[in-house]
Amino acid sequence: MYNARDDIAHDKQAIAKSFGNAATSYDSAAGLQQRVGNVLLGFVRDSMQEKTAPKILDLGCGTGYVVSQLAGKSELMFALDIAEGMLRVAKSGMSGKEKKLKNIHYVCADAEAIPLRENSVDLVVSNFAIQWCPDKQVLFQEIARVLVPGGRFVFSMPGADTLHELKASWQQADSSHTHVNQFCEMDVLAGDVQHSPLQVEVLQSQIEIMRYNKLQELTHELKALGAHNVTDGRARQLTGKNTLKRLVSAYDEFRDDEGMLPATWNVIYGVLVNQKTYVKNAY
Ligand SMILES: C[S@@+](CC[C@H](N)C(=O)[O-])C[C@H]1O[C@@H](n2cnc3c(N)ncnc32)[C@H](O)[C@@H]1O
Repeated sequence: MYNARDDIAHDKQAIAKSFGNAATSYDSAAGLQQRVGNVLLGFVRDSMQEKTAPKILDLGCGTGYVVSQLAGKSELMFALDIAEGMLRVAKSGMSGKEKKLKNIHYVCADAEAIPLRENSVDLVVSNFAIQWCPDKQVLFQEIARVLVPGGRFVFSMPGADTLHELKASWQQADSSHTHVNQFCEMDVLAGDVQHSPLQVEVLQSQIEIMRYNKLQELTHELKALGAHNVTDGRARQLTGKNTLKRLVSAYDEFRDDEGMLPATWNVIYGVLVNQKTYVKNAY
């Protein structure tokens, strides 16, 4: 019998494999992710003012950039990722200072099924990872469950306009398949938040434009990041030479005044506050 959740579970295995395989190349291609991570850390600093040594969970920690910046400031840090390969690189990549810290726990798990108790963390952070979670309502319920009342979820993720040049070019080259992941509209995301105990404190988006000489540079970068196409309509076979030629010439139409190829990233930043209240056990 068809079960949509099996499809998602299958895709999650594919996502974990793709990111695991890309773990050693990820940092070389993750300039944008680190820049966005630095903006996110600014929101985290604002959110941490009330608490000096919070317990923090990083969802989809990857190679650990955000973990390495926060571990020294927290009492206990959970670095969670679905890809074991990413966690291995995160552990080995910590600098001497962070390696001495005994407070980082590495957890291989799905962000939609967090293996932590209720009210166990003061802050949840996530940089460029929750776009891989298909059911944001489940995700937000999980985050609200593990967060203490009043705790915050600070995140960044790509929004709907991301890579629109690549999407349009693929559409011209091969309209029978989808080649680029669909990213969430901000109002859909806001609607999912409304169905959870979380409440929006900040929800804003910003455009970042990356520029390349050749389309290959962009596609190699996406591959090095492990950014796997998980759309239902993806092609299951290799792309032919003629299709690739059509893709390159369609993308060439986007060259800017300086002859560079732009790639748009629409980055969403959010700070959500947990509005749930403690429920006392009736017995
Ligand atoms: C683009 S990387 C971002 C990594 C890191 N946060 C950073 O700032 O560089 C996305 C990460 O999310 C992880 N991921 C994807 N789906 C996940 C899920 N359902 N649960 C937990 N981690 C997930 C991937 O394995 C990958 O390490």
